[in-house]
Amino acid sequence: MLRTHTCGELRIDQVDHEVTLIGWINAVRDHGGLKFVDLRDRYGRIQVQISPESIGGDALETLRFDQVLKVTGSVMERPDGMRNPKLETGDVEVIATSTEILGECPPLPFNPDSGDQVNDELRFRYRFIDMRREEIQRRFRLRSDMQFAMRQYLHGHDFLDLETPMLTKSTPEGARDFLVPSRQNPGEFYALPQSPQIFKQIFMISGFDRYMQVVRCFRDEDLRADRQPEFTQLDLEMACIDESDIMGLVEGLMEHVVKEVTGKEVTLPFPRLSYKEAMLSYGSDSPDMRSDLRIQEFSDLVEGLEFKVFSGAVDSGGAVRGMRIPGGGQWSRKEIESLEPIVKQQGAGGLAWFKMTDDGPAGPVSRFLAGAAGEELIQRLGMEPGDLACFVADGQTRVVVNSLGQLRKELAIKLGHIEPGVLNFCWVEEFPLFDEDEETGQPTPCHHPFTCPHPDDLGNLESKPLEVRARAYDLVLNGFEVGGGSIRIHQRELQERVFTAIGITAEEAESKFGFLLEALRFGAPPHGGIALGMDRLAMILAGLETIREVIAFPKTQRGTCQLTNAPDPVTTDQLSEVGLMKEPVAKKEPVAEEESGEDS
Ligand code: AMO
Ligand code: AMP
Repeated sequence: MLRTHTCGELRIDQVDHEVTLIGWINAVRDHGGLKFVDLRDRYGRIQVQISPESIGGDALETLRFDQVLKVTGSVMERPDGMRNPKLETGDVEVIATSTEILGECPPLPFNPDSGDQVNDELRFRYRFIDMRREEIQRRFRLRSDMQFAMRQYLHGHDFLDLETPMLTKSTPEGARDFLVPSRQNPGEFYALPQSPQIFKQIFMISGFDRYMQVVRCFRDEDLRADRQPEFTQLDLEMACIDESDIMGLVEGLMEHVVKEVTGKEVTLPFPRLSYKEAMLSYGSDSPDMRSDLRIQEFSDLVEGLEFKVFSGAVDSGGAVRGMRIPGGGQWSRKEIESLEPIVKQQGAGGLAWFKMTDDGPAGPVSRFLAGAAGEELIQRLGMEPGDLACFVADGQTRVVVNSLGQLRKELAIKLGHIEPGVLNFCWVEEFPLFDEDEETGQPTPCHHPFTCPHPDDLGNLESKPLEVRARAYDLVLNGFEVGGGSIRIHQRELQERVFTAIGITAEEAESKFGFLLEALRFGAPPHGGIALGMDRLAMILAGLETIREVIAFPKTQRGTCQLTNAPDPVTTDQLSEVGLMKEPVAKKEPVAEEESGEDS
């Protein structure tokens, strides 16, 4: 080894030892002829005293931030009063006898110590410098520990770590595919997998019984703070199981991982709620249960309230919902009205509200509350003096759900319900099997087309497909979907019925998924699984707001890599080699963009 110790490991025990260290210069302080240099590596920092003799005269003046310096010297105890309790190595220092600069470094393009103030474009362009920061190294350490803990747990539960192809056929997770042209088969393309879904099902049919893989998935979709075009899943599949087996296994896994990575305990089992309940009470299919704010239905009371905004919404087939905000009655009218843009942004016409005072309801809606329906509404909300109640009415229930869901999220922050460090898991289950495609009106799979319909709803598969529930479940952590899975269809006939329901013809089914349909004929056991979003999990465990911060080399909103500048134009020769038309390629603009941390 070029070094005897790391920069983080020297203590009083090593006093008088001769050591050789290599590290980045973190600071240089002048001390009358001597220089005090802080040397840094992954393991920590150590102070080194360098005299003109030990470095060869003038070289002392050339020491600069982030040069890689090799130091040989002896460890000394620091005199009293000179110790640095903030450093783990702060009781000692190294007195250099010889030094050598192994890696030069010009002035840096940004000051890493200014932390999150640094412009993101610079940070990701010079990611190698950015990642030297202790804080960032800690994140990747956490991510590595998380993966290790997962493998450890699953290995202990008989899972086999199996690989699946990256050059493959389109897999239906609902996003656009990334395509790879085939040189050997001009005009034909591989697709990068959106997930290993079909392959893991085939493993079950082959009898592997318990499969796991930490696997990269590729989806060409619009990016958000919690989405990247390539991301990593912990992908699982099990045979001869039902929902509760998968959920139980994942709960044990999460308990182990959280404990190993953060030292925290989580409470098992995680609460389970149906999709319907999540949408009603939390206005989201990934409810943030750290806040106990709850949305309630009031559509049944509007007839007695005589408030046109409310009755109009219900008459046109929509809904009126609202929630009690404990203590919100203290807010001024202006403060309450400042909440209105939140719901308007989700398409709502406005926000209706009243406060409860010692003298009864007050505020815009209070004049509609005089009768029995008003009394019932107040009672259902559980209003106490000092509380506020807010309502949204709309002819489209979806708008009511989204607006109150967003309002709930923002109020939870405003009310201080979101305590840092709290981890709140829940399961959402009984998703609909299909959504209605906005353009075609066709049912499309909510999860993917291999998800098993709820047995009680099978009779509706052809007649009322949108009412069929799925044997699907999502794992939600602090309001983020961190995992999704389902029990699969393992009978060919049922699989064909589902394909028909989503408008896939027999020929299409054969050409796209013929190999799966074939496999289902040859002894397929009942099976199911789940995939956990590793990036999202790491982000939440690290207490961060975007997955870019836990991905070493993430993509920008435009899908570019700021470090390598990919994607790049290719030569016409390369194009013709893979059988693609030669088209003039517009010269690429330099990448320069800010990314918003928010969903767009
Ligand atoms: P699903 O599509 O729900 O399921 O994906 C599983 C989990 O992966 C994460 N995830 C993402 N993370 C970052 N960027 C993205 N673009 C992205 N898309 C998804 C989420 C999500 O919960 N084959 C099925 C799993 C199964 O049925 O077993 C699947 O891929 O955390
Ligand atoms: P208006 O009758 O239009 O004066 O509205 C009375 C109150 O209802 C105001 O506080 C509006 O913000 C509110 N309001 C308007 N449209 C809606 C809606 N769709 N849902 C809830 N409140 C609304």
